[in-house]
Amino acid sequence: MSLVLGIETSCDETGAAVYDSSSGRILSSVIFSQISMHAAFGGVVPEIASRSQLEKINPIVQEALSQASVTIDDIDVIAVAKGPGLVGSLFVGLCFAKGIAWSRNKKIVGVNHLEGHLFSSFLKSDLTIETNITFPHLCLSVSGGHTALYLVKGFGDYQVVGQTIDDAAGEAFDKIAKVLGFAYPGGPIIEKLAQQVNCQDFFKYPRTKNIGGDVFFSFSGLKTAVLYDLVKRGAYNLNTGPVQESLTLELKQQVASSLLACISDVFVNNVKFAFKKYPEIKCLTFVGGVACNKFLRQNLNQFCLQKNKNLFVAPPQFCTDNAAMIAFVGGYKHLNGYSDDFSLDVGL
Ligand code: KG4
Ligand code: ZN
Repeated sequence: MSLVLGIETSCDETGAAVYDSSSGRILSSVIFSQISMHAAFGGVVPEIASRSQLEKINPIVQEALSQASVTIDDIDVIAVAKGPGLVGSLFVGLCFAKGIAWSRNKKIVGVNHLEGHLFSSFLKSDLTIETNITFPHLCLSVSGGHTALYLVKGFGDYQVVGQTIDDAAGEAFDKIAKVLGFAYPGGPIIEKLAQQVNCQDFFKYPRTKNIGGDVFFSFSGLKTAVLYDLVKRGAYNLNTGPVQESLTLELKQQVASSLLACISDVFVNNVKFAFKKYPEIKCLTFVGGVACNKFLRQNLNQFCLQKNKNLFVAPPQFCTDNAAMIAFVGGYKHLNGYSDDFSLDVGL
């Protein structure tokens, strides 16, 4: 048995998980989410985030150990998210991990947060590991902070196929939800509103097009297009904000639905482009918080079926930030003889 304690504190979630890397089983995964603490501010406040991490890290780690029915003595290695993320939040997890590693003489392994997401589609809802994902494969990684397509050749061996040149897709959901008067995070409410009108494309917002042989994403122009369309409809005033009489539920549903349809088209189009570029690829994984979205999953799945490729998406609890993905990657690195020393630092 080789037990890994995973620690994830890169943003506004405190996560701890225990993973048995020899049997490939997740024994526990616990998350404390700060969403309600940031809702009033329309986004994550770094100072509040790091203070909350400090308060929660010990009880969340204890809870993960207890749910896995193990003690800290049973743990072989500590895998900790080292970035990118909010530096203050990352420091809490890293210092905690170093403290345990030093005082209990455990190995420590730093894991890149994005690398954690990249492998989260290996984590199944029955807490075992997916064995049908072949290398190389494509990974569409989409969250509030990043949007990119990677060619994943193996653990530690990745190539960026295309990434956003401005905002992340999750950020577009969050910012447009804010314009419509909703709190952070915007993705789930946009999905709910869109479902109420069957995810139809009412307004046909502009889609980015790949030029030449390059794949790229861009969502900043889309944000502006939605905003100015609302201004034109008299539902938003650039000086005073939403115009409540004009910003009806019907209009909110139509905006949310058109936004989702637009982002879905961009994803499918870019995946199509990447499949053409790498015809040998057999499967696509879809990861990050935005991969919770059922409409996006369905459309990508439909497209993959047409192209005779397989789509793998993790259950929602492993799409958003979690420590199981950190423990999984850390466990792999440890089994392959890798460990860090106490000079391990947070990186951006
Ligand atoms: O991976 P994640 O938890 O944190 C980051 O590393 O950023 O992703 C959070 C993002 C937010 O932008 C949130 O609005 C989005 O994921 N999200 C969704 C959905 N659930 C969360 N976006 C679209 N549809 C959803 N159902
Ligand atoms: Zn993340």
